[in-house]
Amino acid sequence: MTLGLTSVWISLMLALPAFAGCGTSLPSNLTLRSNPRLPDPFAFYDGTRVTSQTDWACRREEINELFQRIELGTLPPKPESVKGSITGSTLTVDVSHAGKSITFAASIQLPPGSGPFPAIIALGGYSIPAPPGVAMIIFNNDDVASNGPSRGLGKFFTLYGSSYPAGALTAWAWGISRIIDALETTPSSPIDLSKLGVTGCSRNARGALVAGALEPRIVLTIPQESGNGGAGCWRISDAQQIIGPRPPVEVDPIQTLPWFSPSFGQYARRSNELPFDHHLLAAMVAPRGLLVIDHSAIDWLVPQSVFGCMKAANKVYQALRIADNMGISQVGAHNHCQFPSSQQSDLDAFVDKFLRGNVNANTSIIRTDSPNNFGYSESQWVDWATPTLS
Ligand SMILES: *[C@@H]1O[C@H](CO)[C@@H](O)[C@H](O)[C@H]1NC(C)=O
Ligand SMILES: *[C@@H]1O[C@H](CO)[C@@H](O)[C@H](O)[C@H]1NC(C)=O
Repeated sequence: MTLGLTSVWISLMLALPAFAGCGTSLPSNLTLRSNPRLPDPFAFYDGTRVTSQTDWACRREEINELFQRIELGTLPPKPESVKGSITGSTLTVDVSHAGKSITFAASIQLPPGSGPFPAIIALGGYSIPAPPGVAMIIFNNDDVASNGPSRGLGKFFTLYGSSYPAGALTAWAWGISRIIDALETTPSSPIDLSKLGVTGCSRNARGALVAGALEPRIVLTIPQESGNGGAGCWRISDAQQIIGPRPPVEVDPIQTLPWFSPSFGQYARRSNELPFDHHLLAAMVAPRGLLVIDHSAIDWLVPQSVFGCMKAANKVYQALRIADNMGISQVGAHNHCQFPSSQQSDLDAFVDKFLRGNVNANTSIIRTDSPNNFGYSESQWVDWATPTLS
């Protein structure tokens, strides 16, 4: 492997399939050229322009593959067997694949009344108020993949092998997909599977965003205070050299942590070489609902980066003419993961629209309480135009 300053060859053993119906595929050797701005959502890797919604569907698949190859690691396809059963408030998920089996559980909190209920799957518990009429499904994600410090620990790795090349965020997303599979097979499930959301705070918000990007059965994604590696863009964070106080796990650079692919550490402080940034991770959620709940005043949560990055992601929603399906709400003056009441109406609007079916809910929400939007200058980061995709 040759590492250059402005380009890097990545050799992969994998023979990668073309995207179904898209007539294009990425080369096994990627050429990564340095780009100090946020990569253009509307240009394929080979430079071809994205001009239609059909093109975007293919571009989205390309972005998915780039994220898995470089940052997230490989998401395995659906395992051979997934079965679910509910006893009391416990959903048991039995997964078998290639002669190995694991079992994990999720806890279901039902609202009063009779279902089926919309539901929000919460990684590691939830820090948003449980919305009335919505079931909460608590997923103990660390049981499926350990947060670290070691890689390869947890039931996902029991099933696929401890050296399987997926980061924990991807393994958590896989676990959420298996919860949905299990609910699909559970007789008289109390959950309405057409109205599923996902949430989590901090590192679990990174997991929620990745799950929303990778699992299309989720219709509303609510990452809360996800920071770098979540709703923040690597480039904007790097440029600002945010070095405020960090919790112990938040070692800098974080690209080396088990959250990501084992090979992603090589991009620490070389984010300009990535053929994507996290505006494109968020854009993978489109056209489905995405509400980014964020903190405006904790520096290690990189609020400037999150705000700029998510404004750039919203341009994909604009191109699809559904700008209001994605919102950003950024408020300070509270503890990390403590939900301020001033964001309640923003949460209510998105839950109304995507989980309660109120198409008239006003989800036109892009706001920060930071003066002057942190002085964020879009022209520093965005050098591409936003088309209207027919
Ligand atoms: C990938 O690039 C390497 C280094 O340039 C080269 O040796 C190898 O043959 C290439 N593989 C393919 C499949 O093009
Ligand atoms: C939706 O809310 C935004 C922000 O509060 C407001 O500017 C807009 O007028 C509202 N739209 C409708 C249709 O009420």
